[in-house]
Amino acid sequence: MSGNITFTMLKPDAVENNHIGAILQKINEAGFRVRAMKYTRLTPEAAGQFYAVHAARPFYADLVKYMSSGPIVAAILEKDNAVTSFRDLIGATDPTKAAPGTIRALFAKSIEANAVHGSDSDENAQIEGSFFFSALERF
Ligand code: CMP
Repeated sequence: MSGNITFTMLKPDAVENNHIGAILQKINEAGFRVRAMKYTRLTPEAAGQFYAVHAARPFYADLVKYMSSGPIVAAILEKDNAVTSFRDLIGATDPTKAAPGTIRALFAKSIEANAVHGSDSDENAQIEGSFFFSALERF
């Protein structure tokens, strides 16, 4: 059975462009509840660790630089079937391919600066949530 937790980051472009409020409104309107939330900034080391699964990809070095270039908002979200439902809400990684009305279609600047991250599996949602939040920080 699918889990009810996913993890998201509002990325540096979304924060820099003042889209935190609008994106959180979309997330709430889609039925997600916030279970943990943090405004923070990744060091290059932490960004590299978070995206270690992409270490062999050609875009990895730029991604690490970009993700540590400014503040982000990290959050754990709850809803039935959370991972799939959230990926539907944010749209394709490349905003030019994201469906109209999705968060990336509305707010992303490029395939790299694509406004939001969403976990791709229940297992990764747990791993990624634990990267930012201790058990005591989840409500
Ligand atoms: P995200 O869903 O957080 O997962 C990996 C990130 O790498 C992706 O969003 C983008 O920010 C970034 N990225 C940059 N270039 C690419 C690419 N060509 N394909 C996929 N992801 C990319």
